[in-house]
Amino acid sequence: MKKHLLFGLLSAAVFLVGCAHRPATHPTDEPFRSVYHHSPEANWMNDPNGMFYDEANGVWHLYYQHNPFGTTWGPMHWGHATSTDLLTWEEHPIVLYPDSIGTIFSGSAVIDKNNTAGFGENAIVAIFTQSERIGQHQSIAYSTDGGYTFTKYEGNPVLMGDIADFRDPKVTWDGDHWLMTLACQQEIRFYASPNLKEWTYLSSFGKDLGAHGGVWECPELIRLKCENEKIGKCENEKIGKCENDKYVLLVSINPGGPFGGSATQYFVGDWDGREFKCENGKCENEQMNWLDYGKDNYSTFTFHNSPDGRLVAIGWMSNWQYAEVVPTVAFRSQNTIARDLFLFTDDEGEFRLGSVPSPESLALRGEETKYLPDAGIVELELDGKQDALVTLSNDKGEKVVMNLDVHRRTFSMDRTASGDCSFSHDFAARTVAPLFVKRDTYKVLLFIDHCSIEAFDAEGAWSMTNLVFPSEPYNHLDVQGGEAKIYNVKI
Ligand code: FRU
Repeated sequence: MKKHLLFGLLSAAVFLVGCAHRPATHPTDEPFRSVYHHSPEANWMNDPNGMFYDEANGVWHLYYQHNPFGTTWGPMHWGHATSTDLLTWEEHPIVLYPDSIGTIFSGSAVIDKNNTAGFGENAIVAIFTQSERIGQHQSIAYSTDGGYTFTKYEGNPVLMGDIADFRDPKVTWDGDHWLMTLACQQEIRFYASPNLKEWTYLSSFGKDLGAHGGVWECPELIRLKCENEKIGKCENEKIGKCENDKYVLLVSINPGGPFGGSATQYFVGDWDGREFKCENGKCENEQMNWLDYGKDNYSTFTFHNSPDGRLVAIGWMSNWQYAEVVPTVAFRSQNTIARDLFLFTDDEGEFRLGSVPSPESLALRGEETKYLPDAGIVELELDGKQDALVTLSNDKGEKVVMNLDVHRRTFSMDRTASGDCSFSHDFAARTVAPLFVKRDTYKVLLFIDHCSIEAFDAEGAWSMTNLVFPSEPYNHLDVQGGEAKIYNVKI
């Protein structure tokens, strides 16, 4: 079936609705400012850092790599934003400034419920890398006002680097002690601590395993509960049976991603309290696992203390190949929408890490509309028996072409004619995701914002995040081989 939705004239009303969606926290009204994705008010941002959920106040805290002096990477600080809905963000003052130990690189934060560090019950403790010319070290800082201001620990650094790349500590509670996952060149190291101040080396992982086209960064060890109904979430008949909890190790890599530049790979395996081992030695084959099959989802982390044991994750929505030259003006970079991570088994019976838009992100769906506003959500139902072609375009002829190939069992997105690609020869690209699970009907969700398209298998078997810079908003949607529902964005 061919369904052609053509909206040659975007009415002034629709345009005004689009503008009204822009959160008041963004002073500049530039065309590529995201409507419902977090972006810094001004200047440069890369990785999300230290994310945690304050359950007493229902507030999500997001810190981020920030250069307050310009729109390219520079001396790193931790910027800060909060949200109660994961869609609209309030900016707060910078929480961590460089000092004599170094600038402030990526890291994590925990709520120290039992006062193990002695900074006070429920103190928020940030663990981060300090980078200087001759090395990288791990430091800590604490907050006793719920994460709005931090004091650096006078005994910093708490873990001295012994190699050049020694960074991005992600700390979690592992039964009766803290566990740090750290990126060290092209390996991951694990350290344990009773109090966040003294750290003991446990083990290393990654030599000759997975992708090694670049430096490893921003790791996270995630525990996935052994709940078979969740593992079978993709309604796959071969539901995997697990007896123990599974662990997934996220490792960002730059360069060396599947479509060039930076990307996030993962390993599924087991954690015995000391060592991470891949599921059935699976990492030894050549196959890499990617969290997202687009070019623009890097250094993905989960929020510490997410409600109901969920794994709510956000990634940096850009790529080191061109992040510093994209055509935004007052700021550079935004984060992805929040996604919930989970484990499922694919048609070959392999465990895979899936991501679905978080319920908070799905709450964006406003009224169903026949208009395609400049920010919206599209739900596609594509027939699993024939190929489908989905084209988003504007009156200038700029377009993004998506293709469901039922024989190759792939979904692809081609942004080579999507708008401005001139700022970097690495930008024009076609990205391809394996479908992983065969279905009669493929439901695909498209989250469209002013400079991004995030495509999801509606059940989370794959996701694909790509930036786009059209000179006018896309206002046509053409679907061959399926049907589409369009929703306005509700903020
Ligand atoms: C990843 C990264 C991290 C580092 C930070 C510096 O994008 O290179 O490894 O901590 O950015 O800004």
